[in-house]
Amino acid sequence: MLYKSFCEDDTKKIAESIAKKSKPGDIFCLNGDLGNGKTFFVSAFAKALGIAENISSPTFTILNEYHGEKINLYHFDVYRISDPDELEYTNYPDYFYGDGICLIEWAELIKNIIPDYATQIFFYKNLNISESYRLIKLI
Ligand SMILES: Nc1ncnc2c1ncn2[C@@H]1O[C@H](COP(=O)(O)OP(=O)(O)OP(=O)(O)O)[C@@H](O)[C@H]1O
Ligand SMILES: [Mg+2]
Repeated sequence: MLYKSFCEDDTKKIAESIAKKSKPGDIFCLNGDLGNGKTFFVSAFAKALGIAENISSPTFTILNEYHGEKINLYHFDVYRISDPDELEYTNYPDYFYGDGICLIEWAELIKNIIPDYATQIFFYKNLNISESYRLIKLI
C-alpha cells in the first residue's frame, strides 16, 4: 500500500487509519532516515488508540510503554543499538509476542529478531516535491 503525505495532517490521517485496523499482537517496523516522520507517526497512531500521553522519542531508553484503554502500545527506537543482544534487558519477546502493539523505529537494525509477520512501513522524503512531502509505503 502506498500513501502520499503532503503535510503533517495527512500523515496523522494515515496513521489513524492504520491504527484503527490494527490488532493485538501486531508489529509495525518503521524504517526511514532521520527526521522522516517515524516518531510523528507513532504519536498520531497512539492518539487514535485513545492514548493521551505525549509520545516522545525513546532514543535514549529503547522502549517506552503506553497504556491505552483497550490496548498497550510499545514504542521501540533501536537507533543506538549496535547489537540485538543489547535488547535483552527489555525482555523484548514479552512485547513482540504479547497482546499489545509494537511500533519499532529503525527496526532494520535488528531485523534478524523481528517476526516475519511484522508489517514494514517505509518513510521517504522527496525534496523535489516539498520539504513536508512523505511517501509512506506499507508492506
Ligand atoms: N508530511 C509529514 N509527515 C510527518 N512529519 C512531517 C511531515 N512534514 C513535516 N514533518 C515534520 O518532520 C519531522 C519528523 O520528525 P520525527 O521525529 O517524526 O522523525 P523520525 O523519523 O522519528 O526521526 P529519527 O530517526 O531521528 O527518530 C517532525 O518535525 C514533523 O513535524
Ligand atoms: Mg524518531
